Amino acid sequence: MVALMLLCLLMQTILGQSWASETSETELELLTRELLASAKEAEFFEWMRGVRRRIHQYPEIGFEEHRTSQLIRTELDTLGIEYTWPVAKTGVVASVGSGSKPVFALRADMDALPLQEQVGWEFKSKIDGKMHACGHDSHVAMLLGAAKLLQSKRDILKGTVKLVFQPGEEVYAGAYHMLQHGILNDIDAIFFIHVMPSLPTGVIASRPGPLLAGSGLFSATIKGKGGHAAAPHKNKDSILAAASAVVALQQIVSRETNPLEAGVVTVGYLKGGEAGNVIPESVNFGGTFRSLTMEGLSHIQERIKEVIELQSAVHRCEGTVDFMEETPLPYPVMINNEALYEHAKKVGEALLGEPNVELHPLIMGTEDFSFYSHKFAAAIFFLGIKNESLKSDQPLHSSLFVIDEQASSVGAALNAAVAISYLDTHDVGNLLKS
Ligand SMILES: *[C@@H]1O[C@H](CO)[C@@H](O)[C@H](O)[C@H]1NC(C)=O
Repeated sequence: MVALMLLCLLMQTILGQSWASETSETELELLTRELLASAKEAEFFEWMRGVRRRIHQYPEIGFEEHRTSQLIRTELDTLGIEYTWPVAKTGVVASVGSGSKPVFALRADMDALPLQEQVGWEFKSKIDGKMHACGHDSHVAMLLGAAKLLQSKRDILKGTVKLVFQPGEEVYAGAYHMLQHGILNDIDAIFFIHVMPSLPTGVIASRPGPLLAGSGLFSATIKGKGGHAAAPHKNKDSILAAASAVVALQQIVSRETNPLEAGVVTVGYLKGGEAGNVIPESVNFGGTFRSLTMEGLSHIQERIKEVIELQSAVHRCEGTVDFMEETPLPYPVMINNEALYEHAKKVGEALLGEPNVELHPLIMGTEDFSFYSHKFAAAIFFLGIKNESLKSDQPLHSSLFVIDEQASSVGAALNAAVAISYLDTHDVGNLLKS
């Protein structure tokens, strides 16, 4: 009898649960369909595209995004959305919703790269030597698109969405500086969409756990004693010391790192000497190091310093290494929170269909969004922009980088849907009731 009752109870629970999750999936499908339809409407899409193109024409390097920041504030004013500015010099943090918990954040980066655009099109960069070649212009447009979608639903939001427009992603650690301000202290989770030219338009991809490497920069100076090339015994050869150090650095990954763990040490520049018959006083070189674990990153960093200092000493020179830690560097490893990843994946599948949400491989690239991921639940999803007729398959940071602008409707809808449904499922009132 008791067993039968338990069985009934169990059946009820199972049936009840599957019914509940089916219902909510249908709701999610309705929500995502509605958001995507709005973001694809001609007027909405053209507005977003216009925003992206205006930013694209006037690219600004890290912490100089004054014009971009102004454009964002003007659009937020038009949408009737309140914001705080300046946050970390040019950053803007807007807020939509009830003003209370839970607080979900969406982020866009604003800065461009020091690169000459070589794409011949009407809206190309008007600033010599600067270009939006990493899609940050479209990230801003998509986040403003999400802002518009969220604002139209502000009365039904079960919490607050913070829209984070961040400066200086490209080696300026803008995310770190945004965190110093304190305005993000109350957020529960943060989500970010980055365009990805290896994925077709209409496809998104990510993975749970580690996604991107932690990465640092180093700059070394080896000081010897300069003099006549014919009298090496009277001088201290910094060229030979540097050459030995560069070779020895390659052994950190090949001989000291577990072959099953990823690591990179690359020397990207080497400068020293002017003439064939002179031993120069000093040599400069530097590069990057990367790892997929924080332990790996600090081990490589420690060994870079030791190898350069000790190889210099072998050659009677003096080596010093600067890791630019005030920037601050290195960027930590980017780790996708598993629950948030699953949430965004589910929303993505409702929005685009299951086959269009892919598992992305690990990459050794970096993103300063990782600073958030060590403080809050955080996740990055990549958004496809590849379209053969537009040749938008050029890699990020290429001077030929092109975007399929149609993708911004997907990005705006995904941003908004991930935020709205996060608030729905983390609603404090709802959780207390259940
Ligand atoms: C590629 O871009 C063209 C021009 O915007 C568009 O007509 C076409 O639908 C796009 N193709 C895909 C697969 O999105």
